[in-house]
Amino acid sequence: MSIHEKLEKLQKLRRSAEIGGGKERLSAQRERGKLSARERLDLLLDEHSFIELDRFITHRSTEFGLDEKKILGDGVLTGYGTIHGRLVYVFSQDFTVFGGSLSEAHAEKIVKVQDLALKNGAPLIGLNDSGGARIQEGVVSLGGYADIFLRNTLASGVIPQISVILGPCAGGAVYSPAITDFVYMVRGTSFMFVTGPNVVKTVMHEDIDMEGLGGAEVHASVSGVAHFAYDSEPECLASVRELMRYLPQNNTELPPVLKCTDPYDRQDEKLLEVVPDSPNQPYDMRDVIKCVVDGGDFYEVHAQFAENILVGLARLGGRPVGIIANQPASFAGALDIDASDKGARFVRFCDSFNIPLVVLVDVPGFLPGVAQEHGGIIRHGAKLLYAFAEATVPKLTVITRKAYGGAYDVMNSKHIRGDINLAWPQAEIAVMGPEGAVEILFRRELAAAEDPEAAKKARIEEYREKFAHPYIAAARGYVDDVIDPRETRDRLINALDMLQNKRDQNPPKKHGNIPL
Ligand code: HXC
Repeated sequence: MSIHEKLEKLQKLRRSAEIGGGKERLSAQRERGKLSARERLDLLLDEHSFIELDRFITHRSTEFGLDEKKILGDGVLTGYGTIHGRLVYVFSQDFTVFGGSLSEAHAEKIVKVQDLALKNGAPLIGLNDSGGARIQEGVVSLGGYADIFLRNTLASGVIPQISVILGPCAGGAVYSPAITDFVYMVRGTSFMFVTGPNVVKTVMHEDIDMEGLGGAEVHASVSGVAHFAYDSEPECLASVRELMRYLPQNNTELPPVLKCTDPYDRQDEKLLEVVPDSPNQPYDMRDVIKCVVDGGDFYEVHAQFAENILVGLARLGGRPVGIIANQPASFAGALDIDASDKGARFVRFCDSFNIPLVVLVDVPGFLPGVAQEHGGIIRHGAKLLYAFAEATVPKLTVITRKAYGGAYDVMNSKHIRGDINLAWPQAEIAVMGPEGAVEILFRRELAAAEDPEAAKKARIEEYREKFAHPYIAAARGYVDDVIDPRETRDRLINALDMLQNKRDQNPPKKHGNIPL
């Protein structure tokens, strides 16, 4: 055979690999509003940057006539490419090939890119669209999943790992995305559940469809499993590209600094009005964030889940920062179980990848109630406390209004190694709010008063003057300065500059024991 004939054979094999499970199955995929595995990579990666590995691999099983149905690539594209010019490793499951199910060979392909990503210190992005373990391969397929889970775990905190769910993701298969840093889903076409609607019906006698049980909306707003939900695959993949602008390649690098065209000392007059005069009136902390960060760009994470805390990425003076902020517009910004979990996980992500933390505080305390106590708010709240205390990246805090009780300590206070803690003049830093404090301290006095309401009002006023301000904390050095809200941006950028060579570490240990 001449070289030309050999090249022709190679081209034929390549074309065959590109067809996947065939035109019919591909049309079925499109009819559902889903892109092909290859089209998805085209949208995710920089143009023509994808280099495919292992396109000639096929499955090894001979059960149920599988020996006659070998398809090149075995249902997953793997390889590497670039996003904004930076290296990433990828896999993209092909539902047209045995429903994207995971065989031994399919797993080995994923494991290979996981190992490459870890060895070379670059992010791994997995596009999931799979019926789960290849049924015909039995335990070998389960072993393949475990090989992937192990590598997800070892890579955690070393390289960013992103999971994009673009079809079914069921059974134990969900645990690979669950270990990764961020989970993206698409409404209407992606599903995640440990047991599907049929099993739920048989075992629990509950009637529910796939979307209701494990669709994007449910996971983005109720379970918190998904960090992002989008209406279409192109939107979803564009968002992953956007996320990558903020992340370092691995835990030994600093996140990418961009040229900043927004003046460092820009003062936004809106910051004087955003916090209402009445301490009990809600406002949207997003308005504060947008006034302060570069260009007002806030890449919000987990936007629909635990809305009483906001987390996300932004830039200050061109440097990426992780923002964690109480949200007075939801539950008055009180911390509850979900907010604690959401905040803690994000803090740990940022700390793993050298992203400084900027914490905006307006918190009346932990949410009271039987459901919270019995649900373990003590255990969950402790996660957030632990995460902030353990973090060694530069840590900045701005108290915009309330910082009451334990929540004051938790929200990156000076006492748990906040580096620069600032307060606005409206800040109220105390054990509790005036109403609650007066009722406890003066219950007897108020009951005996001629006019209990007037007496209460007077005591509240007295308490306010004594405690509901930032100056006791400032006098102790618990806040480093009380600032004009308009100076916030300038002061934060200045603090980040000052802290850019910060070195801090925790005592040597195998690992801590965060109260999971
Ligand atoms: C082998 C599979 C498969 C699987 C689907 N297919 N899932 N082949 N193993 N797990 C094949 C089908 O036979 C079919 O082949 C093609 O993929 C498309 O599947 P359809 O059923 O026609 O598609 P659809 O109607 O869209 O339904 C998709 C689905 C359903 C919801 C994913 O296929 C399904 O329920 N599959 C089984 C899911 C499951 O229970 N997996 C195991 C989970 S447990 P043809 O040739 O007809 O096109 C698990 C354990 C992980 O994964 C362990 C980790 C520890």
